[in-house]
Amino acid sequence: MNDLPAPIPTAYTIRPATDLDVEQINGIINHEIAETVNNFNYGPRSLEDGLAWFRATIAGGYPVFVATTTTAGEGGEGGEEVVAGYSSLGSFRQKDGYRFTAEYSVYIHHEHRRRGLGKRLLKDLLIEAKLRNFHSIIGSISEGNQTSIDLAKAFGFRVVGTMKDNGYKFGRWIDNTFLELVFV
Ligand SMILES: CC(C)(COP(=O)(O)OP(=O)(O)OC[C@H]1O[C@@H](n2cnc3c(N)ncnc32)[C@H](O)[C@@H]1OP(=O)(O)O)[C@@H](O)C(=O)NCCC(=O)NCCS
Repeated sequence: MNDLPAPIPTAYTIRPATDLDVEQINGIINHEIAETVNNFNYGPRSLEDGLAWFRATIAGGYPVFVATTTTAGEGGEGGEEVVAGYSSLGSFRQKDGYRFTAEYSVYIHHEHRRRGLGKRLLKDLLIEAKLRNFHSIIGSISEGNQTSIDLAKAFGFRVVGTMKDNGYKFGRWIDNTFLELVFV
């Protein structure tokens, strides 16, 4: 019986993130940093840096959401809450005139993909963006990530262009595609 794989969770909750989620958000981000060009950092984000990012994001008036699920505990009881993905808005550019524009991020833990969480988190994030009076949302997607481009397009984003050799990671140049969604 012990050889059975862990059951795949089917129930997820989306809620605003708190300080207590940052360690697990970091886990998701740090996997992407180590394995992919979806994030242009080279080294892992520390808990201290993660907390600084989270607090500055919230203080800046930007939302952060998490998708959580509960692992099955012993005998089906006492499971732990696991962060399966997160979404956030952040500053696109610092200058005053850009304050109604925000850049979005959506990251799903690699073991929780293809269960609709990317869609759910992006949908809730865009609803919140509108409520907070943002006018334009920007996506920045590294090359080779057609899934993210298609996901954004499904919510009305349009590709505005691809910047060549915009990033450098793992010893090579990486193009970056920008998308925008303008609320009317
Ligand atoms: C992109 C990402 C957010 C998608 O999350 P997800 O929870 O797996 O996506 P969903 O289950 O909501 O699926 C959304 C759509 O993408 C499709 N899709 C998801 N993963 C796919 C894959 N690997 N290949 C092809 N299609 C895929 C789904 O089939 C679905 O399409 P549908 O609406 O036609 O059914 C996730 O892969 C991820 O976190 N990637 C790394 C981080 C990243 O690139 N973030 C975006 C930039 S900020």
